[in-house]
Amino acid sequence: MPTTMSPSQSAEDYLERIHELIEEKGYARVVDIASSLKVKQASVTSMVQKLGEAGYLNYEKYRGLMLTNKGREVARKIRNRHETLSRFFSVFGLDAETQKRDIEGIEHHLSPATVEILADLAQFFEDQPQTLKVFRRSRKNTRP
Ligand code: FE2
Repeated sequence: MPTTMSPSQSAEDYLERIHELIEEKGYARVVDIASSLKVKQASVTSMVQKLGEAGYLNYEKYRGLMLTNKGREVARKIRNRHETLSRFFSVFGLDAETQKRDIEGIEHHLSPATVEILADLAQFFEDQPQTLKVFRRSRKNTRP
């Protein structure tokens, strides 16, 4: 992966998860990354190597995997995007379990312009609870 390119979709999954693990536990082990992404440890090792070469993370002997500033910045953007999508679906009352599954499925495929529209739409409905009510009622009435 050339350093000038943004991370691929699956690289984004790894950065997102590594960032979460480090925040939760203080470290990200290959075995934890593998089980949480449901992939083989060998796949993690190979992706970690690529992400390292692209300057997103370092391996330190006693501390384990550490994100570089660049890696942390990208991971934050990924998380913000996830949170925007979650805010959007929450406005419409989608349950947390469905949200999590679906957001993980789509988030790496959305362009910034699309995410911006969804953020604006969430804001629009948050600012206008009456309009949101009308919309939610109309859904109920049109669905079998
Ligand atoms: Fe995510």
